[in-house]
Amino acid sequence: NYFREKSFADRGWILTFNDVLTLPGYTSFKPSECDLSSNLGPFHFESPIISASMDTVTEEEMAINMALFGGLGVLHRNCSYSKQLQMVKKVKRARNFIIEDVATVSPGMTIKEVRVMMKNRGISGFPVLDSKNKVIGIITQRDIPFESEYDGKVGDVMTKDPICLPANVSREEGLAKLYEIRKEKIPLVDSDGVLTGLITKKDLKPNYPYASKDTKGRLLCGLGCSPFLPKNLEELETFKKAANLADILMTDVAEFHKKDDIEGTKKLMEIIDSKFVVGNIGTYEAAEDLICNTGFPEDKFIGIKVGMGSGSICTTSIQTGVGAPTFFATAQVADAINDYAPGKISLIADGGFKFPGDLIKSFAVGADMIMSGHFFAGCTESPGILDNIQGRKVKIYRGMGSKEARAIGSYVFDRYVKDSKKLAEGVSGYTPFLGPLEGVLLSLEEGLKNGLIYAGAKGISEAYKVKIGRVSTAGINESNVHDLIR
Ligand code: XMP
Repeated sequence: NYFREKSFADRGWILTFNDVLTLPGYTSFKPSECDLSSNLGPFHFESPIISASMDTVTEEEMAINMALFGGLGVLHRNCSYSKQLQMVKKVKRARNFIIEDVATVSPGMTIKEVRVMMKNRGISGFPVLDSKNKVIGIITQRDIPFESEYDGKVGDVMTKDPICLPANVSREEGLAKLYEIRKEKIPLVDSDGVLTGLITKKDLKPNYPYASKDTKGRLLCGLGCSPFLPKNLEELETFKKAANLADILMTDVAEFHKKDDIEGTKKLMEIIDSKFVVGNIGTYEAAEDLICNTGFPEDKFIGIKVGMGSGSICTTSIQTGVGAPTFFATAQVADAINDYAPGKISLIADGGFKFPGDLIKSFAVGADMIMSGHFFAGCTESPGILDNIQGRKVKIYRGMGSKEARAIGSYVFDRYVKDSKKLAEGVSGYTPFLGPLEGVLLSLEEGLKNGLIYAGAKGISEAYKVKIGRVSTAGINESNVHDLIR
């Protein structure tokens, strides 16, 4: 009962991050000794943070960067199986200094259009391709005439026949060439001159010592999946390729403790070689059942994802009256894991994190990793373009059960109750643009690390010892900024 008592669930309370605070503790180690690394089954991560499997959060660019910075991205599934396969391939083939998903323009585009692309994507230059995807030029801000009204064609002002490098260029060769020609970007091409990637000075410099990698040195990749195999044979083949190439499959359903979902996932585990995290669930009993009664093979079943209705875009709890806030759910499932599969099953606390300070609270009640959409939807690396509302830069963030996400059409309705096609269980809105992922991750990691240091835990592996106290409403108000004119 350790974690349930600690989270006050033994008194019948369903508490959430805001209800509690971590208490300070004695610290006998140096800040530099505090270790944020954690494990998910056989996989090791220098950062215990995962980006959610949502279509406004994790596509290949987010997944590549999450892995480069030591965490994990879980690709969403609100798309065709072939798009999923493409995304997984891009992550697994990504070389950490090469951009593979390059934004390009054609010679016939107008400068006005290019200016819009530059602004929306925050990119300062593009390779120019002909109709066969061969590189015929490059256009950067420096090529565009200063007059704001200028609206000639890309072909008129681009730098023609730019220097390109072969697709298999090494980091050292790339850096040397960039220095030699004093440029910011060089396109990479195959033997026919067709664009294969891009190197930039900015991306070549850092070496990503913390990147999450598989045994072959490729980036680790998560993939959101349905608990059911596709029925169509062609789709099944494509799904199998994507699933076997990804490292970790995560069933992506609102409430996983259902006979159909369990049986479906068992079939998946029989034919897919990758590891599985199942979820979401929110109670001790559900975890006990999944661990003890399902017969999921031990070598495939590596984790459980918990939390229901806490997500910032979720309406499941208010639409259905059922929910398990992530803090509560983590403690419940952590106790079941300790009782029945200690050290064998990892726990991901999913959703509901508002502030960096919320992270330590889930590790204190037994999480191994945390997952968030809220923190990452506003990053440069999330899918979607920048928008502007009353002068503020924003990006779209939406729940996978929102009517907007469901409207995509390819979304499999099995994330929610299978027969319910009308009831939205999520919303869509705008979230402030936050800039590059690196900065966002750094502030999360710093908040978590400082919290562990204040609480006297030398790392994630000691967080379970950290004490938790319940706070009053007055305490919550006092924790926030108060009595200040802003
Ligand atoms: P945050 O708090 O990071 O939560 O925004 C992300 C998590 O929320 C879940 N999710 C949903 N839950 N309706 C729900 O009830 C939805 O439409 C929805 N979309 C995502 C999911 O677990 C995600 O990781």
